[in-house]
Parts: sequence; C-alpha cells; structure tokens
Amino acid sequence: MDVQDNLVNSIVDLYKDGNWKEIVDSYHDHPDRNKVLWVFPTEENLKFINQCLLELHCSQILSIGCGCGLLEWIINKFTGLPVTGVEVDSAWWHCKYAPPTFIPLLLTPEEINEDVINLLQSGIETALLFCYFNNRPAFEEYIKHYSGNVMIIIGPGYGKGVHTDPKPFGDVSNDWQLYKWQEVRNSQDFIVFYQKISKN
Ligand SMILES: C[S@@+](CC[C@H](N)C(=O)[O-])C[C@H]1O[C@@H](n2cnc3c(N)ncnc32)[C@H](O)[C@@H]1O
Repeated sequence: MDVQDNLVNSIVDLYKDGNWKEIVDSYHDHPDRNKVLWVFPTEENLKFINQCLLELHCSQILSIGCGCGLLEWIINKFTGLPVTGVEVDSAWWHCKYAPPTFIPLLLTPEEINEDVINLLQSGIETALLFCYFNNRPAFEEYIKHYSGNVMIIIGPGYGKGVHTDPKPFGDVSNDWQLYKWQEVRNSQDFIVFYQKISKN
C-alpha cells in the first residue's frame, strides 16, 4: 500500500465516523492531499462560509467540478445545508484508481445538459461554488444558465504560483460584486463570495 492509498484510507475511515475536523486538522498539509481535495478549510473558514450563506439567504450549494466531493461533504456536515456536486463524466470516475466519492456526484457530459440546467435554475437560494475550477469556457456556460445571485470561488491568490480559471479575485464580469473573502490559514488560498448585481 503506498502513501496515497494510506491517505485515502485514513480519510475514508474518518469520513465513516463523520469526523470532518480530524480530516482538515490532520491532512491539510499532507503532500498528497490534492489527490482528494485542493483546499482543506479550517473551522474558522467553515464558520465564515456558514455566516455568508446566512447573510445572503442561501439554503443550499451547487458545487461545480467538485472532484470526489470531500469539501462538499465537510461543508454539509458543518452547516447542515444540502450540497450537490457536479463533475464532468470521464473514464477517470469509472476507473479503479479513482478516489472514493464522499457525496453522490451528478456526472455530466462536457456539454451542459438539461439535468444540470435544472440544478442551476433550482432557485434563488442556491449558491454556486467553484473550488479550484480550471475551465473558463465551461465556467461561462454554467454562469450563463445559473439563476441565483451568489457565487463562491475558492482558489489560489496571485502569489501562490498555481493557476485556476476563474481566479478568486478580479476575474469575473462586472455583473458580480465582491461580497466578502477569507484566506485559508496562511496558504494563499482564498474563499471569495460574490453577489450578482441586480439590474432593476
Ligand atoms: C482541480 S480539480 C478541483 C476538484 C475539487 N473541486 C477540489 O477542490 O479538489 C477541477 C475539477 O473540475 C472538473 N471539471 C472540469 N471541467 C468541468 C466541467 N465542464 N463540468 C464539471 N466539472 C468540470 C474536473 O474534472 C476536476 O475534477
């Protein structure tokens, strides 16, 4: 069993115990952590997310490009809010080396389909989450169909030397106004809330 299997097995055991806190405390700086999740939020970050969702009247989250859904499971455990995950369907998710999934994934074709559009238009109280998303054309397409007002981008700040698309800051259209942000530890990863500007 290699180091990566050990990491995944340990996280799965903690997941089965519902122990999200031990997962974020013990594995946030593990060298192989990106195999399951790019950003391990702190308890303070989870409080921040919960508070922003409350302030913005969101009662559920739709996470696009959620990977194996570990972040989404952690957010659900902390906030009690439903979190739905969308991933692009590929051979990866059906191969034996794929990581376990922590929430049920909605696997979609590259081209956005009706099931995803229905989720994107499931109500004003749905916040849209992108964590380390890296596909600008798909991002634009998701945004085009999204009918809510709250978008969360989690990703690396300018100094980190890691690329995502969209970036967390200064990388969305003028329709979106920065609401609040918080760093994850001192990792140069940021959780950034945006609110859609009403055009009435
Ligand atoms: C860098 S990974 C981040 C995964 C996860 N959010 C995390 O933080 O660990 C980006 C993910 O976006 C997914 N992705 C890329 N294009 C997509 C699309 N059009 N729709 C849904 N997911 C997509 C990829 O399959 C990949 O799992």
